[in-house]
Amino acid sequence: MKLKPLFASLLTVGALGLTAFSAQAEDTIKVGLIAPFSGPFADYGKQMEAGIKTYMKIHGDSVGGKKVEIIIKDTTGPVPEIAKRLAQELVVRDKVDFLAGFGLTPEALAVAPVAEQAKKPMIIMNAATSIITTKSNYIARFSMTLPQVSGPMATWAVKNGMKKVVTLVADYGPGIDAETSFKTNFIGGGGQVLESIRVPLRSPDFAPFIQRIKDAKPEAVFIFVPPGEHSIAFMKGYRERGLAEAGIKVIATGDLTDDHLMPALGDSTMGVITTFHYSAAHNSPENKAFLKTYAEVNPGAGRANFMSVGAFDGMAAIYEVSRKLNGKIDGDKAMAILKGMKLNSPRGPIMIDPATRDIIQTVYVRKVEKVNGEAFNVEFDKFLDMKDTGK
Ligand code: PHB
Repeated sequence: MKLKPLFASLLTVGALGLTAFSAQAEDTIKVGLIAPFSGPFADYGKQMEAGIKTYMKIHGDSVGGKKVEIIIKDTTGPVPEIAKRLAQELVVRDKVDFLAGFGLTPEALAVAPVAEQAKKPMIIMNAATSIITTKSNYIARFSMTLPQVSGPMATWAVKNGMKKVVTLVADYGPGIDAETSFKTNFIGGGGQVLESIRVPLRSPDFAPFIQRIKDAKPEAVFIFVPPGEHSIAFMKGYRERGLAEAGIKVIATGDLTDDHLMPALGDSTMGVITTFHYSAAHNSPENKAFLKTYAEVNPGAGRANFMSVGAFDGMAAIYEVSRKLNGKIDGDKAMAILKGMKLNSPRGPIMIDPATRDIIQTVYVRKVEKVNGEAFNVEFDKFLDMKDTGK
């Protein structure tokens, strides 16, 4: 009954409304942004939106002769059914040209069949399980993959004399990927993994896991957890239970020392070594320009992180495709442009692998240090031209 008045009013605008609407639709490039904007992972969507705003401030809000419209959809977290329904609505009702965003792997996996069926380019701005890009020919990834950043952490650790570690990961796609590729390189390099711990994605209690790490007496613990309550709880437990005093170091993917969370993490991460594709402390003109505009257009948003950079670069790709296609977006033509695309990202040069549609980029080794009184991930070594090694 509730629908009736709406339906009636749509009918009344009828013929008149239709021409006006289609003219308007033709003048617009529509991007559906699917990510968590509420719940424990709300920061993921907010960081992406902030990165997109930054891009549009620098490059304008139109491209290929059309205005760019961002339609935001909140998944509320790793809920596949919601992500899929939102993607279907964006395709059928909003008639978007691009599907974009995806903070968490379950969102991306749920939307892949929708992109495939509708032939919509799907621009991944964070979700980082290796397998995602194999789930549709219309996916291109502008973030990273966990194998891409975890393998180098193991290689660096064995090279620097670490022999015995425990691994701890979140028990879902990216965590399993991180554990597998870390172990492959660490054991392959002559190291020993004493124990592999997996913690639930939803609100884990870290205390028993931290005790298990302490009891195993490793030289270091390797961590992948998605930024947020996990990283804060882990670092708190690590400090409170005296693991540092017991001589157990922390090595991790940069998700643990997410730039955006550094103020919340306080000094707990001081000295932690991580491997990752982006640090707010990255020293380049592109990063300086990005951070300057980010701060201008997102007052009070805190420090930019890898998710805002993934979104900034994903937006650069959307603009490049739209420019080359003169604003007429065709899924197959868009993918041909995305394959092999090169960009000068705030993180450094990136390229989309034409064979896998995954990202090729430098992976940096970093240490948490104070810069002008604030904790940053300071890059001190790097692995050039890293591909995803997880497929
Ligand atoms: C993911 O769910 O794919 C994911 C989430 C947070 C990260 C990395 C990967 O930091």
